Amino acid sequence: MDIQWYPGHMARAKRLVQENLKLVDVVIELLDARLPASSRNPLIDEVTRHKPRLVVLNKTDLADPAETARWLLWFNQQGMGALAVDAAHGRGVREVPAAVQRLAAARIAALAAAGRRPRPPRCMVLGIPNVGKSMLINALAGRAATRTANRPGVTRGQQWVRLARGVELLDTPGVLWPKFGDQEAAMKLAATGAIREEVYQPEEVAVWLAGWLRQRHPRVLPERYAMAENAGEPVLEQIAVKRGLLGPGGRPDVSRAAGHLLKEFREGKLGRITLDPPPGN
Ligand code: G4P
Repeated sequence: MDIQWYPGHMARAKRLVQENLKLVDVVIELLDARLPASSRNPLIDEVTRHKPRLVVLNKTDLADPAETARWLLWFNQQGMGALAVDAAHGRGVREVPAAVQRLAAARIAALAAAGRRPRPPRCMVLGIPNVGKSMLINALAGRAATRTANRPGVTRGQQWVRLARGVELLDTPGVLWPKFGDQEAAMKLAATGAIREEVYQPEEVAVWLAGWLRQRHPRVLPERYAMAENAGEPVLEQIAVKRGLLGPGGRPDVSRAAGHLLKEFREGKLGRITLDPPPGN
């Protein structure tokens, strides 16, 4: 279900996540590798408090690999574990259980030192809608995963899934809201398809994306659409003409061109492009 993020829903989402956080040793914060800054929940530090965190950058098949590497380094410098995956194709996913185990080690050892019964390290996936949480959970769980019987503290309908290294994963993700206040972040989220079409104007987002691409990657649009780099005509009209998206009287259909550009960007047809530059770049 797509949730509209009214304050009441945000408070409820935060409460649900905080209830589940009590059950786990490590939080897997799932981000979009094209948007490692814009796809973070604005209150993530407050929500997760002091839990050890593994940042997982997903959809790396669509992101610029050099920028992904710089982002991983930056997260490491902030004291967080960080991994890059492509959950859709299962790439990098096998590294996740070992990283969770490492991050949980101190807490598991502390429990043992306090004379508590040994138990597996536990984790959950947390992120904004559409970042790939279900896909990552499915990729981690795989077909062979064992699901544990219901246990106290775990809500009906939730289960622990046993992963490699004895790590247990909560099979339902935590869902938090994206950044709304920051206009540029909102444009980037819309451009990648992270927010629903009903809440933005595709034409406005496509014009923003075209402007951003012209500034940061000036060769991309001319190469994809065989058009002049600095032609006076607006980009969407040029794309409409090049792709034969014409309306009554043969006029360029800018609305369809906007949809076409966004679709091609989201499918990676314009190349592997990261919209959030790593800090310091
Ligand atoms: P969520 O639980 O966080 O809401 O996200 P979900 O797993 O449903 O994934 C959201 C969309 O992102 C899906 O596309 C999914 O296929 C895509 N996705 C997830 N991980 C990756 C990845 O690593 N690479 C790529 N390229 N895409 C990924 P969709 O358009 O909503 O559905 P569909 O294309 O699967 O039909």
